[in-house]
Amino acid sequence: MDRFRFVIVVAALGCFALAFALSGIYPWWVTDAKGHEATVVEVTDVVSPDFKDVKERWPVAFDRAFAGATEAMTDKELAGVASDDPRRLASEAAWKRAYADAVKRGRDRYVAEACWHCHSQYVRPVIGDTARFGRIRSTDDDNNVLQRPVLWGTRRVGPDLTNEGGLRSNDWHAAHFANPVSVSPGSVMPKYPWYFEDGWEVRRSISRDVAKREGVDPATSYPYPGVHRTKAEAEAAMESIRTNIPPVLEGEKARLFVSPAKSPTADGLALIAYMQWLGTWTAPARRN
Ligand code: HEC
Repeated sequence: MDRFRFVIVVAALGCFALAFALSGIYPWWVTDAKGHEATVVEVTDVVSPDFKDVKERWPVAFDRAFAGATEAMTDKELAGVASDDPRRLASEAAWKRAYADAVKRGRDRYVAEACWHCHSQYVRPVIGDTARFGRIRSTDDDNNVLQRPVLWGTRRVGPDLTNEGGLRSNDWHAAHFANPVSVSPGSVMPKYPWYFEDGWEVRRSISRDVAKREGVDPATSYPYPGVHRTKAEAEAAMESIRTNIPPVLEGEKARLFVSPAKSPTADGLALIAYMQWLGTWTAPARRN
């Protein structure tokens, strides 16, 4: 029996040592001949539509969260801006800055929260794996700073996240981090309440006619994008919405109200941006 235990201990230590050594050797092995490892700026060169949607959805938190975020203009904001207006160029640069900032910060949260303890980032070259988790990432794609240390993970309590980008909506991720079972019944993933803060939002209730026609509760209401820090800020936003309502829709003014709401924090938005980035970058050597 003692001997058996000895073998188990030696085998376990051996596996640990092998994993430890591989995690060190692998980055060196995949670094290309010129010794170049893709930087954060390189891997976030193309700003994803999902990241732009983060700003549309949580504009107030977004502006506070990332470097240069206030200059990054959404497509709606750019609609009336001339094609040679310098604000367009400034906006493009600001988007890239904010995106690089967000993805890096989200990666750091992923490491700090030990998400890798339950999630792998390694689709194995076996049939079931590709059917469930998508494309196998090449070693070239691991040759970037966000894979230092390599985030293969330790076990698979949850799904592999190699190709998570674009699979779900930003809303889904926010709801999932707040309370996983709300969107994924039976999930054992923990809640992450510290990625949310209390605030206030402007909402509009639906008209009685619509409620009747659609067969929904007349108390139903929908939020305007943006959770504000204070009630006064939300009320100011409501006033500005009120003044823009055209006279024919006068009745709509009475349906606006301000109510408590939760918004992702800067780190929460960063984590969502990182989820949406996963699998969207391909090493230049593999593009054609
Ligand atoms: C205790 C293990 C555990 C931890 C820790 C954990 N998860 Fe999960 N995760 C799961 C399980 C199980 C699922 C599948 C059920 C579900 O969707 O909630 C999941 C699902 C997910 C999904 C949805 C994947 C998809 O598209 O189906 C994402 C994204 C995710 N986790 C991200 C994270 C992030 C980011 C962290 C760290 C902040 C984290 N998880 C921490 C267990 C975990």
